[in-house]
Amino acid sequence: MKIAGRSTRTIWPTGTTVRVIDQTRLPFEVIDVELRTAADAARAIRTMIVRGAPLIGATAAYGVALAMTEDSSDANLAKASTLLNATRPTAVNLAWALGEMRRTLAPLPTAQRVEAGFAKAAAICEADVAQCRAIGGHGLRIIEQLWNNAGKPDRFNILTHCNAGWLACVDWGTALAPIYMAHDAGLPVHVWVDETRPRNQGAALTAFELGAHGVPHTVIADNTGGHLMQRGQVAMAIVGSDRTTASGDVCNKIGTYLKALAAHAHNVPFYVALPSSTVDWSLSDGMAIPIEERDEDEVACIAGRDKDGRVQEVRLLPENSKALNIAFDVTPARYVTGLITERGVCAASRTGLLGLFPEHAKDAAE
Ligand code: MRU
Repeated sequence: MKIAGRSTRTIWPTGTTVRVIDQTRLPFEVIDVELRTAADAARAIRTMIVRGAPLIGATAAYGVALAMTEDSSDANLAKASTLLNATRPTAVNLAWALGEMRRTLAPLPTAQRVEAGFAKAAAICEADVAQCRAIGGHGLRIIEQLWNNAGKPDRFNILTHCNAGWLACVDWGTALAPIYMAHDAGLPVHVWVDETRPRNQGAALTAFELGAHGVPHTVIADNTGGHLMQRGQVAMAIVGSDRTTASGDVCNKIGTYLKALAAHAHNVPFYVALPSSTVDWSLSDGMAIPIEERDEDEVACIAGRDKDGRVQEVRLLPENSKALNIAFDVTPARYVTGLITERGVCAASRTGLLGLFPEHAKDAAE
């Protein structure tokens, strides 16, 4: 996608180092930073310089390639994998990408592992771009159909939560790819952007990237979605996923579940867009997904730009109040209208997923 007219990705190699957009500086500054070592990649994931399930996987893949430039032994391959796997617990793309890297590199002689590591990480990134583009095409058809069924209104309101756009992936995004394609096709889409406290991925990242592409949008406080649905102001919701079980339970940014409940109550179609690398075939019950708990300061404090243009962090809570910062929640499959994957749209169920991905019939948990 483009920033100021320039095609940009979230992550790209530069010889034997890697550069990423520093998402902790958005929307106020667009800067990129260099990752030279596996430890740099691990730090970037842990501190959320990069975030979003597919981008976490892509960064971990490059982290392994970087580790090979330091020491391409079996021991270091295992060490880097352990280090990167411990950075964030919920997005399953992390473990998936590390598994892909290990399977590719372990059988090779150590002298070939740097080149093969960068090639495999680049292939993971290209596959993500292709999958997101395909998700966009399938989601576009749903938007077109709902817009037609609604009598082609002048404004078609889509609600999204957190950031599941190109900043969460390598390019295009998952939940936002259909929206970009609908906008580019001339459909009058308008996006309600949940601010997504505590880290404000909606206000800071989704609003930034939609704005950069010229997609009409309005940021709303997280509590506003139910009201808008009740008043018929939301035609559909599309969100991303950090981990989807074989039975179609969806784990995504905290607050997704409440939006799904409200959508269910008001008959608003609630779609989840995800590449198959986000499916955890080993789990059936969403309640078994490990849920990340982060520092309470992310709830207690907030950053923004003051009138003089300086970015400042301020505390919102009384000094002695404690805060709880649970980063994800689980939306049971029964509240999900459909899963939009790179292979098409399916019911959020074991049968639906296996219909599109029959090769997982043996490993899909029941
Ligand atoms: O904590 P984050 O910012 O990594 O969480 C990101 C989300 O929850 C996204 O909605 C999810 O990864 C889907 S992204 C394509």
